[in-house]
Amino acid sequence: MSGNIHSVLQETRTFPPAADFVRQANISGDEQYQKLWQRAKDDPAGFWGELAKEHLVWSKPFDKALEGTMPETKWFTGGKLNASVNCVDKHLTTWRKNKAAIIWEGEPGDTRVLTYQDLHREVCQFANVLKKLGVKTGDRVTLYMPMIPELAIAMLACARLGATHSIIFGGFSADAVSDRNNDAKAKVVVTADGGWRRGKEVPLKKAVDDSLAKSPTVEKVVVVRRTGSDVSMVPDRDYWWHDLMKDASSECDPVEVDSEHPLYILYTSGSTGKPKGVLHTTAGYLLGTQMTSKWVFDLKDEDTYWCTADIGWVTGHSYIVYGPLQNGATAIMYEGAPNWPDEGRFWEIIEKYKVSIFYTAPTAIRAFIKWGDHWPNKFDLSSLRLLGSVGEPINPEAWMWYHKVIGAERCPIVDTWWQTETGAIMISPLPGVTATKPGSCTKPLPGIVPDIVNEKGESLGPNQGGLLVMRQPWPSMLRTLYGDHARFKETYFGKLQGLYFAGDGARKDEDGYIWVMGRVDDVLNVAGHRLSTMEVESALVSHPKVAEAAVVGFPHDIKGEGICCFVTLKQGEGNDALKAELTAHVRKQIGALATPDSIRFAAAVPKTRSGKIMRRLLRDIAAGKEQVGDTTTLEDYAVLAKLRDTEE
Ligand code: WTA
Repeated sequence: MSGNIHSVLQETRTFPPAADFVRQANISGDEQYQKLWQRAKDDPAGFWGELAKEHLVWSKPFDKALEGTMPETKWFTGGKLNASVNCVDKHLTTWRKNKAAIIWEGEPGDTRVLTYQDLHREVCQFANVLKKLGVKTGDRVTLYMPMIPELAIAMLACARLGATHSIIFGGFSADAVSDRNNDAKAKVVVTADGGWRRGKEVPLKKAVDDSLAKSPTVEKVVVVRRTGSDVSMVPDRDYWWHDLMKDASSECDPVEVDSEHPLYILYTSGSTGKPKGVLHTTAGYLLGTQMTSKWVFDLKDEDTYWCTADIGWVTGHSYIVYGPLQNGATAIMYEGAPNWPDEGRFWEIIEKYKVSIFYTAPTAIRAFIKWGDHWPNKFDLSSLRLLGSVGEPINPEAWMWYHKVIGAERCPIVDTWWQTETGAIMISPLPGVTATKPGSCTKPLPGIVPDIVNEKGESLGPNQGGLLVMRQPWPSMLRTLYGDHARFKETYFGKLQGLYFAGDGARKDEDGYIWVMGRVDDVLNVAGHRLSTMEVESALVSHPKVAEAAVVGFPHDIKGEGICCFVTLKQGEGNDALKAELTAHVRKQIGALATPDSIRFAAAVPKTRSGKIMRRLLRDIAAGKEQVGDTTTLEDYAVLAKLRDTEE
């Protein structure tokens, strides 16, 4: 971790919001923003307490808005509520009852529309199914599913019972599934026969079968029929979703849970090997996702809103399901890849459904740029009124392309900074307030008090690079790492007393705009997905031929960061066949998202005299830099020269 970070990015263009956008915006004009932000800073409990009273549906009102200080904070104690009621039932007594909640498009082109009433029926039915399978309030349920409506239904069904869902992205391997099942002690797994991705089937049930050999806590499996391919069904363990739903009642009383009742666990990578089970609780998370959806996306009833993330990641949890549904919005959900059957698919979907708000990731934007302007130009994108970005810093050039080619220089862009741990967007432009600067996530939302500090926790001045921290608690923050509260305290609050710090470096410019410079720990950000270098190293070292491995990121045109592995063998020389074998091994251990971009065999990796791998040097070498940084602590200079020769 380094304190003062040198920043090289210079960007001076600014884009003030258009007057007609400002006029209609949910937060309108700088004066309103300043007032809200100051009020929230001075009295966080009062600010959030009022919002919680107004915007959440309570079965029992809370006594106290905020208790304790970070890291041991509790929000809305004494209150009782249910998340599925807040997402679905509350709309049934309004005109939104028959409004589309989810418009789903499958990769092969099949479609389904679920109104709020439809969603209510299916959520209740599936909650009854789970109950029948033995799921009780407080149990954990793993969801390992494609992007189909049943995933959102299963999430809300868990929430209806007060069961905690743990969603595992469909790109993870069987081993990753069993690790997570075991850590969460999951009782039931919900999956599908498979999902569609670029015309090919992702065999999810097969992976579940393999994982269950090593997941002793799992008792039952529910399988959605999606692709129709052959799968093996184990009697008294595996059941078809449609069979169970046939007899399930469409009424299911919601279980009223405490504000701090666990809503879900989501595993994410940290700088050490084992994935962390980030735990979010009910009331604070709901409030954070609801308010930020309204503020940042300026969500209105008339909008057709599309977040392209997979629900397997936090962005999908917060901004496909919990945030938009609480707002009574209409959300698009798309199953497949952006380039299937061709590179026009996203733009075709926008034209078809007249999408007005579009939220995607820089890695996707860089791919669109590479595929060429003629793809978006073929379609009518005039329904768009707002664009969003999340997952990594967006390069100013990608920002400008998004602004011109997709937004026709008309749509505000919200570059939203947040994390799995923060639950909801923290730093972002407000589209009716903020003059944007390409590459900056701009300013904190009301209720969020960030700072840039050095390693002692002292505030730094304008344009001094440092660590991005939070000085005040906020309702949607993680409460613990599942089963390991000590690690939670150490990871996020151990380095800087009283401050939340989760790994990013940043600077604030002279206008108070925040520029995130990326991770300062050993976390890679590959195509917007977090992976720890240690996880990939452990996977490599578990191969019988590997003695040692050091993994670093390097700049990658599309993925942002690519994965470069330096591998030392126990004996013999490396070759292409072994590279392929190691690649397959990493994919089996973690999943396709961790596929190495480059494997280099090395006689040794550079270490300090105290035996620490010098990743900085490896990063320079992986990036092809001629000059590497400071080598004074290097133990063996010859290693460097040899490493350079490993280039492919
Ligand atoms: C990075 C995704 C710059 C950052 C919601 C953070 C960003 C990590 C941005 C969290 C952004 C996310 N600008 N960096 N707008 N959004 N990041 O947990 O490094 O998958 O710490 O949550 O992504 O990734 P996670």
